[in-house]
Amino acid sequence: MNKSILTRFAVLTGVLMSVSAASFTANAEEKPKRDPGKKIYMTKTCMACHGKDGRKAMLNYPNIAGQDEKYMVNQINYIISGKRLGSHDATGNPRAQGMQGALISPSDNKPRISKEEIQQVAAWLAKQPPADLQEPKTPLDPASVEAGKKLFNSKCKACHGAEGKKPLKGNPYVAGQKRDYLFIQMQDIKSKARQTPKSAGMYGIVKNMTDEQFATLADYLSQVDRNAGN
Ligand code: HEC
Ligand code: HEC
Repeated sequence: MNKSILTRFAVLTGVLMSVSAASFTANAEEKPKRDPGKKIYMTKTCMACHGKDGRKAMLNYPNIAGQDEKYMVNQINYIISGKRLGSHDATGNPRAQGMQGALISPSDNKPRISKEEIQQVAAWLAKQPPADLQEPKTPLDPASVEAGKKLFNSKCKACHGAEGKKPLKGNPYVAGQKRDYLFIQMQDIKSKARQTPKSAGMYGIVKNMTDEQFATLADYLSQVDRNAGN
């Protein structure tokens, strides 16, 4: 390389560096409060499946806005590591496999999301208002909703809180979640298609329960509005 090219290269590098330093400062000044969790949510494919701000998940995927932070950190880690797979969905693959695939780089099998980013995205999601109640596709039988409520109060409240709205820290909110998602998760915990380091307590409760009982519980919980009252 001759000297004049080297000089031009040095000048150009200097210009580029000062441009990027300037735009970095401008950015930091304009958006001082930008939550890194939101950016991760938008750029690491989460939004494609869980919908805008975690409130409009596709198909029977879970809404995750307002979910417990610690619970979400655990679940994201279980899904990435393959500890949580779930039963097979309509495509014939384990339900959590699409998420796992989206978050693992095929070239080196390493996660595309760091531990810190998992923490940040979960913290941001936990602060978002939960989804509004969805109209059931077919009207629910009020007797089933009532039976689900009774069953919930006797068997589930201790861990998921009154009306599924006040779980113990690290346990999931189950109120206002999509009906079909709730139903499938109860079945999956019973069949051990979903068996995680934290699912044993719940398994002990659902192992002798029937699909009819799961249906009443899912009918009831899907109709509890997390945005109403306390
Ligand atoms: C390809 C679709 C897809 C993508 C992309 C995806 N997820 Fe998921 N996610 C799912 C599905 C489906 C489940 C439920 C799996 C099951 O039923 O067992 C799930 C479960 C979860 C759960 C557990 C919810 C619960 O109530 O147990 C959390 C938290 C979560 N995802 C967060 C994220 C975050 C954060 C991202 C981005 C970094 C992401 N997901 C990307 C499809 C996806
Ligand atoms: C001993 C405490 C305990 C009891 C009792 C219990 N659960 Fe759970 N439940 C949990 C825990 C912990 C999890 C998360 C398991 C994991 O980490 O995979 C869970 C998960 C769930 C999920 C999946 C949530 C999601 O977002 O994926 C549903 C739905 C659920 N429970 C409903 C119920 C219902 C309905 C009952 C009563 C029949 C019940 N649970 C009883 C502790 C409990």
